[in-house]
Amino acid sequence: MRLFDTHAHYNDGAFREDRTQLLTALPAAGVLAAVVPGVDVESSRTALALAEAWPFLYAAVGLHPEDCAGCTDADFDAIRALCRREKVVAIGEIGLDYYWAENPPKEFQHMVFRRQLELALELDLPVIVHDREAHGDCLEIVKASPGIRGVFHCFSGSPEMAEELLARGWYLGFDGPVTYKNARRAPEVVAVTPLERILVETDAPYMSPVPNRGRRNDSRNLPYIVEKLAEWKGVTPEEMAEATWQNGAQLFGLEHLSGDAGTDICGKDRV
Ligand code: NI
Repeated sequence: MRLFDTHAHYNDGAFREDRTQLLTALPAAGVLAAVVPGVDVESSRTALALAEAWPFLYAAVGLHPEDCAGCTDADFDAIRALCRREKVVAIGEIGLDYYWAENPPKEFQHMVFRRQLELALELDLPVIVHDREAHGDCLEIVKASPGIRGVFHCFSGSPEMAEELLARGWYLGFDGPVTYKNARRAPEVVAVTPLERILVETDAPYMSPVPNRGRRNDSRNLPYIVEKLAEWKGVTPEEMAEATWQNGAQLFGLEHLSGDAGTDICGKDRV
């Protein structure tokens, strides 16, 4: 089984002590690709540095709604410059976050989000969208940018919203919360989501799935998410892992990953 974690913050301080050790262990656990997102210019740079140092890592660069207070033209220019690097595969994570009262004002978040969507369109890059308690506005803003493609990371909207996004070509990302006992909407969302539009993510170091809930998360927990989605979708975990692998390769333009599993370095599942 080969796994693609399309959202893992290995540039986070939570991995400072043992980052090299952990990243070294991932391919042996079947995690053969992962996207490391930035949340501001600095973390976008560290995401890129990791991606340039580790062949199986890729970077996304962007200004997160929670971290965009006071951002200036210079920040947008820095993100634009980073997008030229070969291992940058997306703009993200970007979006809207109305959860924290101290976050930047909504209008400012909208401006930052829109500007990065325009950049993605101009550079023909997919986006990774963070939508926390801002479903209506996120949907309205992406609908106003036809042609934009990407993933709603850790999707938490309704099945109706999922259908609107799917009809426009979006992918939906699923994380640890699908394994929580109180996951009520997620099975309904997964039911309306075709297998070829599902991505699996850890959002490491956050949101560990059951049975590791509450501990630091990393991509080795991905199988718990894959298994739950496979159960809901009526496929085997192997089929879910392979489908989400191919979906990640497709969305992020990583054609070299989409070949047969037998041709990569982890062909041990092959008979
Ligand atoms: Ni994240």
